[in-house]
Amino acid sequence: MKINVLKIHNFRNYEKATLNFNEHLNIIYGKNGVGKTNLVEAIYALAITKSFRTNNDKNLIKMGEVSTKIEGVVEKNTESNYQVIINEEGKKVKIDNNIISKISDYIANINVVLLEPEEQMIFKSSPQNRRKKLNMEISQLKKDYILYLNNYNKTLKQRNFYLREAYINGNSSQEYLDILTDKLVDLGLKIHTLRKEYLDNINIYINEKYHEIMSSGELEVKYVSDYNNKSKENIIANYQKNYNREVIMGKTLSGIHHDDVIFMLSKKNIAEWGSNGQQKNAIFAYKLAEIAIIKESTNDYPILILDDLFSALDNEKIKNIIKLLNDNIQTFITTTDLNKINKKLLKNADIFQVESNSVKEV
Ligand SMILES: Nc1ncnc2c1ncn2[C@@H]1O[C@H](COP(=O)(O)OP(=O)(O)OP(=O)(O)O)[C@@H](O)[C@H]1O
Ligand SMILES: [Mg+2]
Repeated sequence: MKINVLKIHNFRNYEKATLNFNEHLNIIYGKNGVGKTNLVEAIYALAITKSFRTNNDKNLIKMGEVSTKIEGVVEKNTESNYQVIINEEGKKVKIDNNIISKISDYIANINVVLLEPEEQMIFKSSPQNRRKKLNMEISQLKKDYILYLNNYNKTLKQRNFYLREAYINGNSSQEYLDILTDKLVDLGLKIHTLRKEYLDNINIYINEKYHEIMSSGELEVKYVSDYNNKSKENIIANYQKNYNREVIMGKTLSGIHHDDVIFMLSKKNIAEWGSNGQQKNAIFAYKLAEIAIIKESTNDYPILILDDLFSALDNEKIKNIIKLLNDNIQTFITTTDLNKINKKLLKNADIFQVESNSVKEV
């Protein structure tokens, strides 16, 4: 899968830009703060309809403007035109000029894999951030995932609201709570199944990928979930046992909204035991596993974004990594320093120079 053309309008610090990309390697360079990450963020948002840097879509709108449009020509077997339009009222997405009313029908079309400096912090970050990443990854592959997730979150809100009401009123309808619990568990189990399947797939590849970069250590990811190895009956019984406590606390105390992913290197939690380098390489191995899964399930490679690669890894590692990248993967690298990139690589790449608020191909 390749993005051939990107067109942005009033996106972040750009008023207008149109870029024609190389099908292999694209290098975006310029000084700090000029808008390099903004460009790859536009590609990411074209695919996912969301940024990886902000939860508020409106931050993507150029300051002082009221809307932004990201448009791209993406080639799978044939070319299609994709658009994401964000304004004060919300978001609209289009494929070949047809409005797509369900976001889930849009997101599963363009696959991107992203490596950015923040990813290195994922071990120190919150479970919530780790779930967010996981959600974005799975929603690219499984159309229904986002629907289940949105419904789960809605049901969770309703349930928490009801628990608080019950506390304030001093009584609750067991029947109504049972209905909400049943709905929550049904949706939660669907999400659990997809998360488990996805992380099982990651584990098929991640150790082998890790060994392509590092010589020692066994790497695997572990899915931590309240629903692990439990039947629906088990889970429901557990909720029922905790109803009183939940009413007092005013919230749902277990469920897939507490899920987490931990990385184990040679059976030890890498967040607590791993060196900086081991952590970085584990993340990179995860990304390579992600690429392999996407290739396997869609029969096509994703678009790969490496934001600020050189701040994340040392030169020696980068050389290895670039060697690992398949020629069939369209790749975007942002950097402040072209000299760090191998000459041979530069020769075959398209290079885009970013200067404050504008970008040109050189
Ligand atoms: N909504 C917006 N409207 C206008 N400008 C914005 C908006 N959002 C961000 N910016 C500007 O974009 C710039 C940051 O761009 P970006 O993060 O892409 O920089 P960068 O080239 O990746 O820098 P670095 O090398 O430090 O990572 C900042 O100057 C910021 O003020
Ligand atoms: Mg940047």
